[in-house]
Amino acid sequence: MPNIHSIVIVGLGNVGNAIYTYLVDNDDVKLYYISSKQRLDLNQSKKIEISDLEKFSNSLIVLCIPDDAIQSVSQSFADSSNVIIHTSGTKTLQVLDNHSHSGIWYPLNSFSFNFPVVWSDIPVFTCSNDSITEKHLLQFSELMEVKSTRITETTKEILHLSAVFANNFTNFMITQSAELLESTGLDISIFKTLLNNMVDKLIQLGPIAAQTGPAKRDDIGVINRHLNLLQGHDSSKRIYRLLTDEIRSKYLK
Ligand SMILES: NC(=O)c1ccc[n+]([C@@H]2O[C@H](COP(=O)([O-])OP(=O)(O)OC[C@H]3O[C@@H](n4cnc5c(N)ncnc54)[C@H](OP(=O)(O)O)[C@@H]3O)[C@@H](O)[C@H]2O)c1
Repeated sequence: MPNIHSIVIVGLGNVGNAIYTYLVDNDDVKLYYISSKQRLDLNQSKKIEISDLEKFSNSLIVLCIPDDAIQSVSQSFADSSNVIIHTSGTKTLQVLDNHSHSGIWYPLNSFSFNFPVVWSDIPVFTCSNDSITEKHLLQFSELMEVKSTRITETTKEILHLSAVFANNFTNFMITQSAELLESTGLDISIFKTLLNNMVDKLIQLGPIAAQTGPAKRDDIGVINRHLNLLQGHDSSKRIYRLLTDEIRSKYLK
């Protein structure tokens, strides 16, 4: 196992901040960051400029920057003994192909700046094409105390697409719920137990067996009443119709 001399986090947004905050008190690693912002709450002596990177060797550069900036920002780092990785679910290894040692460390989670992160609960997926990077990725996972799994880039693409359905689309559905509840004075927090149980149940029983509701039961009376209640909520009505049709055609064969 190589010893990573230092880790440089580039970009202290949602992901970079979560990684930095976790590692900052770890004496086993020298941690640095590159950020456009003056952050008074951080130790500024740990801040480095890109030109200072020439002093670094055997370092791991972790790009935690927007997907579309990865390729151009990576050009700023001269190819060297350093290993450079990004954390994107959608970008490939190809965006780092100007480096000899490059990889992906993709944490399967939705990070938001002010929401606590329990790293040990987050599965991480890695991709790389060389053994030096692979060893750095493994060591980085150990430092972050996460379970990481090596996958191909094709698997990563499908994983990310699947996560969009599971997380982003589900979140959007709950936005519809919250907007409908507004007129009642009730708050979305009343769904906490329902939603927690949904997750537990679908993991335990599988999503097909866990599906319930009027569309699954083909309860046309309830479906029509709901569509009437959605008069004036055109977007929610379209979504309700689409999902109801899809659920009915899946379960009522
Ligand atoms: N958010 C998630 O839930 C999530 C989950 C898994 C993977 N990822 C991946 O993690 C990466 C970072 O996502 P994020 O959500 O942390 O993004 P973000 O919150 O938008 O933060 C990105 C940070 O990158 C820096 N930055 C912004 N534009 C830049 C540019 N043009 N050039 C250089 N630096 C720039 C800024 O850092 P400073 O403010 O410090 O200057 C910014 O705070 C992306 O590849 C994303 O796909 C995100």
